[in-house]
Amino acid sequence: MTLISAPGNIFLFGEHAVVYGKTGIIAAIGMKTYCEIEKREDSLINVSSEGYGRFELKIEELREISEYKERMDLIKDLISTYFKKFEIEEGINLKISSDIPKDSGGMSSSTAVLCSVLNALNKVFQKVDKKDYYNFLIPFQRKIHGGSASGVELFSSTFGGYNKVKINPIEYKNLGKLELPILIADTGIEANTAETVSYVRKGYELDKRSYEEIFDEIEKLVLEGEKAIKSKDFIKLGNLMFENHNLLAKELGVSHPKLNKIVRVAMENGAYGAKLSGGGKGGVAIILVDKKKEEKIIEKLDFCKIYKTEIGVSTD
Ligand code: MEV
Repeated sequence: MTLISAPGNIFLFGEHAVVYGKTGIIAAIGMKTYCEIEKREDSLINVSSEGYGRFELKIEELREISEYKERMDLIKDLISTYFKKFEIEEGINLKISSDIPKDSGGMSSSTAVLCSVLNALNKVFQKVDKKDYYNFLIPFQRKIHGGSASGVELFSSTFGGYNKVKINPIEYKNLGKLELPILIADTGIEANTAETVSYVRKGYELDKRSYEEIFDEIEKLVLEGEKAIKSKDFIKLGNLMFENHNLLAKELGVSHPKLNKIVRVAMENGAYGAKLSGGGKGGVAIILVDKKKEEKIIEKLDFCKIYKTEIGVSTD
């Protein structure tokens, strides 16, 4: 069997605003989804996933799925679409595992699943070029995150590293290689991205102008953030992250008391900056730390789970 992987992601800047065509910066993380794949002699599709379950189907039994009711539906839908589109007649064994926590969300576990399964299918059938991953995968991402989801996380799970991205029209730039000292703090509270995206949408529909102003302010932070990343100005970067958090929390209302507590405690104990990452109302926060103060910050954040992982990893 060949082992393939795809990384999860964090949002350094710009979640929610990206849905409205603003720029965001996303980074791939060292926590990944892994696939082992091999062709079979017959026409069976045998899939097992540590976190999602298992299924075995004949190719002719594969069906595209319009609405996901259980976790395995995403994988069934992706495989069905791929096999039908490219008229594949050979079966596969596919094993999926992941070290991205999927319960609270916030690190794009489903995006990493999509990219790693597509990587695995391509390893044996070579049908989709990486530059076409976004267009191929966005319909699946939208079935998970709601119809207006931006799907920009797909760029980091596809290409790795730090990615400056926007949609409508799609613009994508890899910001190169560097490692930021970032901790991920998991609230353990499920972040339902489809719900937070539609929550912001409802507010937007009632008063587009006020929301546009906030999205513009967020985008300014993103563009300043890009400069701070490039110049490794951690003080500036941290301040911008904190400002982004405050806009998400106070203006868009997508934070959670536990996320706010993480940000507050981290800042009080010397973090350069901290913010929620992803859809919010649960999920994770990210903390830009001064390495000398990291241990103390971790100690003070004993009310949540802390992940230390490489940020901006490259893909296989
Ligand atoms: C969720 O990971 C990121 C959001 O910006 C939604 C999206 O971009 O689709 C909140």
